[in-house]
Amino acid sequence: MKKLTALAFVFASVFAFSQESVDQKVENLLKKMTLEEKIGQLNQYTGDNAATGPITINANKQNEIKKGLIGSMLNIMGTKYTRQYQDLAMQSRLKIPLLFGLDVIHGYKTTFPIPLAEAASWDLDAMELSARIAAVEAAASGIHWTFAPMADISRDPRWGRVMEGAGEDTYLGSKIAYARVKGFQGNLGDVNSVMACVKHFAAYGAAVGGRDYNSVDMSNRMLWETYLPPYKSALDAGAATFMNSFNDLNGIPATGNSYLLRDILKGKWNFQGFVVSDWGSIGEMVAHGYVKDNKEAALSAITAGSDMDMESNAYRYNLEQLVKENKVPVALIDDAVKRILRKKFELGLFDDPYKFCSLEREQAALNNPEHTKAARAIATKSIVLLKNERDVLPLSKGLKTIAFIGPMVKPKRDNHGFWAVDVKDVDSTYIVSQWEGLVNKVGKKTKVLYAKGCGVEDKSKEGFADALNVASQAEVIILSIGENFNKSGEAKSKSNLQLPGVQVELIKELQKTGKPIVILINAGRPLIFDWVADNMPTIVYTWWLGSEAGNAIADVLFGDYNPSGKLPMTFPRTEGQIPIYYNHFSTGRPSFNEDKNYKSAYIDLPTTPKFPFGYGLSYTTFEYSNLKLSKKTMKNNESITVSLNITNTGSVKGEEVVQLYLKDRFGSVVRPISELKDFQKITLNRGETKTIQFTIDNQKLSFYNNALEFVSEPGDFDLMVGSSSADIRLKDSFELVK
Ligand code: BGC
Repeated sequence: MKKLTALAFVFASVFAFSQESVDQKVENLLKKMTLEEKIGQLNQYTGDNAATGPITINANKQNEIKKGLIGSMLNIMGTKYTRQYQDLAMQSRLKIPLLFGLDVIHGYKTTFPIPLAEAASWDLDAMELSARIAAVEAAASGIHWTFAPMADISRDPRWGRVMEGAGEDTYLGSKIAYARVKGFQGNLGDVNSVMACVKHFAAYGAAVGGRDYNSVDMSNRMLWETYLPPYKSALDAGAATFMNSFNDLNGIPATGNSYLLRDILKGKWNFQGFVVSDWGSIGEMVAHGYVKDNKEAALSAITAGSDMDMESNAYRYNLEQLVKENKVPVALIDDAVKRILRKKFELGLFDDPYKFCSLEREQAALNNPEHTKAARAIATKSIVLLKNERDVLPLSKGLKTIAFIGPMVKPKRDNHGFWAVDVKDVDSTYIVSQWEGLVNKVGKKTKVLYAKGCGVEDKSKEGFADALNVASQAEVIILSIGENFNKSGEAKSKSNLQLPGVQVELIKELQKTGKPIVILINAGRPLIFDWVADNMPTIVYTWWLGSEAGNAIADVLFGDYNPSGKLPMTFPRTEGQIPIYYNHFSTGRPSFNEDKNYKSAYIDLPTTPKFPFGYGLSYTTFEYSNLKLSKKTMKNNESITVSLNITNTGSVKGEEVVQLYLKDRFGSVVRPISELKDFQKITLNRGETKTIQFTIDNQKLSFYNNALEFVSEPGDFDLMVGSSSADIRLKDSFELVK
């Protein structure tokens, strides 16, 4: 014990020393900087070759870099290009290296499932690994910094950016945000790691009406309890940077929001990294009607705590004047500059500005077969089996003829989903199409016939005849449909979430053949397909699975991987139910009331969703039994151990996500009807039983009361363990006592 303490002391002193030395280096450099150069460090521009927003008119970036007036560039990738830009920075007076940032959202050259799909795997190690691989590839290609993870909770599938996050649940979202930061950052400072950027701070996912960039209006209690924890969890994982959000929160744009940035992030949470604005979000405060011009916007943003200006040009052209007018103290600018320089030192860029620019490393990292293997494994885990009524799946490998039909069978790009990195001058991003995956799988012994049937959004039924012809020759039909890759993502909010075009009609035609049909739904969000869900016995939700989509889908279809994905968002029956989420409050007239008329319900629709949060099937079945609580009353400095048995009662090996929910029966504020508080993903062989344990501690029982204190309150709690939020297999209760 003594030894450990001594060791800890040595570590702590070494750490303090190295910290101090970075801080000292930062201070020394700062002393040499002119005000103009300081402001330059707060300035970020996009490269000319790729833009993810409206480009700032600035034809003279090269010269500005040479003058030390730009601290960071985004959307420049590849060792060749990043080196060219870094060369320019090395011609500046103080030779302060540029930081290169990029949206590496779900992979770099090797692409992984979109984040919402990965969240369906509930496999934190797998998600950490995919972020790690993305970091290894991006870092080898000159990138220092990814604008990920997105930790925005969203309860609204109309919002196009749900594809980029972990879904609706705070607990799951927090765990995933943590894993992703760990994966991206690894050992920050080595050549295989990139800085993470937690976005979009804060509550961007709660945009009114699901319309991107829209206002957010919510109680502080809701903010603290539901929306802030995933960002905090990402910070606890060591996230180096944060990005603020486009929305206003309760009337104040997040970019100029001191409560969010100064009081919470840099104050209460003691965040030591830097905050970058979202694209142009400083300037956009004018359009918000919050400030009258770019100068006021700059004043508001720097005062609130936004350190770096992405593409607004607001800091570049106004901060100096604001200092002269004594509206912005130099100390405020110094603080922002120091935060940014510290990261440049920590990354080792002052020792070697070309540290991330090795062509050999780039070639090796972007052609690593291990990355491909991992992409396939993670993609299989992300697939959710929604229905398998007649056990059509898994398909037999002895089938003679399969009809593979639909607009998603042959295209490659759609499998990638929104946010693609187009790696120039290196082999471009690769994707295994669904067709290639299936043909690879069945080899020569099975004939695979193809018909497109229709386009994703087409109104024409011309292709139906061909599809029917092909279907008539096959034993099984696999139909791949959904929405195109660019229909979920930034600025891709939709009011109509139904399967587009004539795809449902194509299903109805094929249904007439009487042959077994497997429906694959490819999408970046929960789509609405009520008729299909009611009438088709076999449905697989494949989301957008990335590079190895085709192989992963084939693995699941033929049972080489037994599906284990569980929905990270509630699937509504129709748009009229949105927002819909499992952990809602009760009301004074709950929808399960006996009274037919006076209850909180729709008169034209059930209140229940089509598919609930946490739902997903397997090719095997699991039995839950023997729930035991180590005690039935606990004090808040104690804990309860919950144990139960899970048995694989089917005929094949499988994985189950065992979910633990709690309900606080009474509180000083109303409590959700149930809340996910823990889960475990376990693998069981056929016939195998495992005992698993969860621990209930005070943290799990606590919530934000009206004074915004995180507290638990004595009283009764229901404990529910199940296979989804709506499929509770075991129940018990316990009491928290003073
Ligand atoms: C998005 C951010 C992204 C940034 C840079 C913005 O439009 O909201 O999430 O990181 O562009 O591409």
